[in-house]
Amino acid sequence: MQENIIPHSFGISKKERNELKKHNSFLLWFTGLSGSGKSTIANALEQELYAQNIHTYTLDGDNVRKGLNKDLTFTPEDRTENIRRISETANLFVEAGIVVLAAFVSPYKKDREMIKKTVKDVNFVEIFIDTPLEECEKRDVKGLYAKARKGLIKGFTGIDAPYEAPENPDIIIDTTKVSIEEAVSDIMDALKTKLEL
Ligand code: ADX
Repeated sequence: MQENIIPHSFGISKKERNELKKHNSFLLWFTGLSGSGKSTIANALEQELYAQNIHTYTLDGDNVRKGLNKDLTFTPEDRTENIRRISETANLFVEAGIVVLAAFVSPYKKDREMIKKTVKDVNFVEIFIDTPLEECEKRDVKGLYAKARKGLIKGFTGIDAPYEAPENPDIIIDTTKVSIEEAVSDIMDALKTKLEL
């Protein structure tokens, strides 16, 4: 099948789209346990970027799994497929000139390596929301840790499924040590030159 598919080359590229929008585009990948604060920080960061005239879009596990990925479970294979589809989707947005914020548990190192390959190293910013399990479990905003402890959810990340922490993330945030505002400000500082053309 693949051998009969010949990509068409279009005249308008990422470079032109970036020039039109007056900023660079790339993928901000938030990884961390459920309840670590990925979506909360991505949401606050997106508002700050918007205020600075940056064109953005957010992809989030809980939302994407209600639509594009509603056929997927939480087995290792389905999580890999979840991340594969998201990285291809994010790649399209990055090519379109958009700064993408993606918040997914993404517990496997090899899956996060795949994202980097798909969007290219230079377009990938890995943000590790390093909130300890005890804190995520204490917060238990969605009540899922309690369910997992009771055995009502099988294969829950951090309880009976692994989380492989990034070894060399671009940015690390521990939400027990910094506020949301501080986290946003730290990330904005790290992005300053990256946004410039
Ligand atoms: S991922 O592992 O495939 O990257 P994703 O980020 O899409 O996960 O979805 C995680 C969200 O789904 C969690 O925040 C939580 O609300 C919910 N969830 C339901 N079941 C599980 C599970 N077994 N493990 C982790 N999260 C789960």
